Amino acid sequence: MWNQIKLVMLVLLALGPVAVAQKYIGAGGCASSNCHGGTSNADEKDSRIWGNEYAIWQLNDKHSKASKVLMEPRSKRMAEILRIANPQTDAKCTSCHAAGSPEKAANDGVACEACHGPAEKWLGTHTQANSHAASVATGMVDTKNLRLRAGNCLECHMGSKDRVVDHELYAAGHPDLNFELDTFTWAQPVHHRQVKASAGNSLPRVRAWAVGQATGLAEGMKLLGTRAAKSWPEFAEMECYQCHHDLRQDSWRLERGYGGRKPGSLQLNMARSEVLRVLVAQLAPDLRGAVDAALNEVAMTVSTQLGNGAAVQRAAQKAAGVGDQLATRFAQADFTPENARAVVRALSGDINRIAGGGVHTAEVATMSLDSLSAAISGNNAGTQQTMAPLYDYLEHPSVYTPAGFAALFRKAAGAVN
Ligand code: HEC
Ligand code: HEC
Ligand code: HEC
Ligand code: HEC
Repeated sequence: MWNQIKLVMLVLLALGPVAVAQKYIGAGGCASSNCHGGTSNADEKDSRIWGNEYAIWQLNDKHSKASKVLMEPRSKRMAEILRIANPQTDAKCTSCHAAGSPEKAANDGVACEACHGPAEKWLGTHTQANSHAASVATGMVDTKNLRLRAGNCLECHMGSKDRVVDHELYAAGHPDLNFELDTFTWAQPVHHRQVKASAGNSLPRVRAWAVGQATGLAEGMKLLGTRAAKSWPEFAEMECYQCHHDLRQDSWRLERGYGGRKPGSLQLNMARSEVLRVLVAQLAPDLRGAVDAALNEVAMTVSTQLGNGAAVQRAAQKAAGVGDQLATRFAQADFTPENARAVVRALSGDINRIAGGGVHTAEVATMSLDSLSAAISGNNAGTQQTMAPLYDYLEHPSVYTPAGFAALFRKAAGAVN
């Protein structure tokens, strides 16, 4: 008996402080008019925050509609195919589409606390001046930490072991997921003041972009490792259009060739690596060898040892470590207009190779250019016109060609100054 109790205590000690699930308040609990329910942006001299976060979220942020889309015809058809009785209550969907609210307010969709953490313990104190650290200690997500912020978004925008969009969901009709932190932050739309430039952080948005890229690699490789260990091959980890395309004699794939791969072998989804290689070559050249070696090993293992999940897992773990190392580096790096311009030039110079990775890789290049040019010019609206042809082009993946995309990309990149 005592031995058993001792054993339990040892186990508890080994586990450390046991995380007790904290409760969500629900978006309505943030909406009072002197908290986050204002109707317009407060002046900076009057308030550290805008105060109208609830209205922005409720009216313009798709997250507030995320559980309602589960009632739409597209979701109903997915549910039928997947034999899910009710997508609005099934965790296969609600894990990402209804989060951050107590059960009774689940139709909040993705509510404030899905990103900011359950507020039970910090609700009372977070209104006080300089309370951020205390709030974080009691369960608030430190969204100011770019790695944590990116990791939080990626939980749903890429998936994790508990939040799953795999090829089965895609084949049932789920839109494919792709993510770039800075572009998505502005598209959300933002409900917070922009981080101001400061010594050592000349272009905060470029830092967000770079940390987002590195975190995407790290988390992506962790997810790949988990999948490789569990059920492999998982088609959701591969470039989609290598399988989903027409058979044509004038195929751009024949023209491109297969690089070091055996013709017809499977290609990993390159969206999280090819742009990042350029970023590393420009701004962390000392890590270039390690990054290239780790990325090449994952890609080659997937294409030459498709059946060997354990080998894929090992290669992915190594690449995840490199991604974490880069994220740490970029989270402290200074990104200046000069080096942001250098990255734009390097992307443009390397765009044929990047475009050869396929549509998703081209999407990441596009969002990256969007983010970099907006940061350099300090202006979102100005870049919209320049970027529109690229986004339009990517709307039609069946007619995608690397050469067509690369020409448009070089043009848009040339307009950045
Ligand atoms: C890993 C998280 C995750 C899971 C699990 C998930 N989704 Fe999604 N879903 C997303 C994200 C993120 C988007 C938005 C993608 C984008 O636009 O980049 C989305 C978009 C959608 C859309 C398109 C919404 C629109 O505005 O057009 C539908 C429909 C949808 N999901 C239905 C479902 C259904 C049904 C399930 C369960 C069978 C499900 N999702 C499971 C993350 C998830
Ligand atoms: C999809 C994720 C997401 C959702 C949903 C979300 N937020 Fe945010 N929020 C963020 C991010 C990211 C930031 C930027 C973090 C920063 O600079 O501190 C932020 C910033 C803020 C800030 C400014 C913090 C500061 O110190 O400047 C407030 C206040 C805020 N959110 C409140 C809310 C409220 C209230 C809701 C719901 C009505 C909400 N948020 C929903 C992600 C989210
Ligand atoms: C709990 C899961 C979850 C988290 C965390 C999350 N999102 Fe989302 N996000 C979704 C879902 C689900 C949708 C689709 C909603 C819809 O279409 O109604 C979505 C949609 C979006 C969209 C709209 C995309 C489009 O096609 O128009 C943007 C932008 C976005 N999210 C940005 C972010 C950012 C930035 C973060 C991190 C700060 C984040 N999200 C965190 C689940 C999440
Ligand atoms: C290794 C090959 C392969 C890869 C890679 C692959 N798929 Fe599929 N996909 C298939 C097969 C096989 C089917 C089933 C076709 C059938 O039953 O007729 C399918 C079916 C689908 C369908 C059903 C409707 C349709 O148009 O056929 C969608 C949507 C889909 N996949 C999306 C994706 C997405 C998104 C990705 C990338 C994230 C992807 N697939 C990657 C092989 C693949």
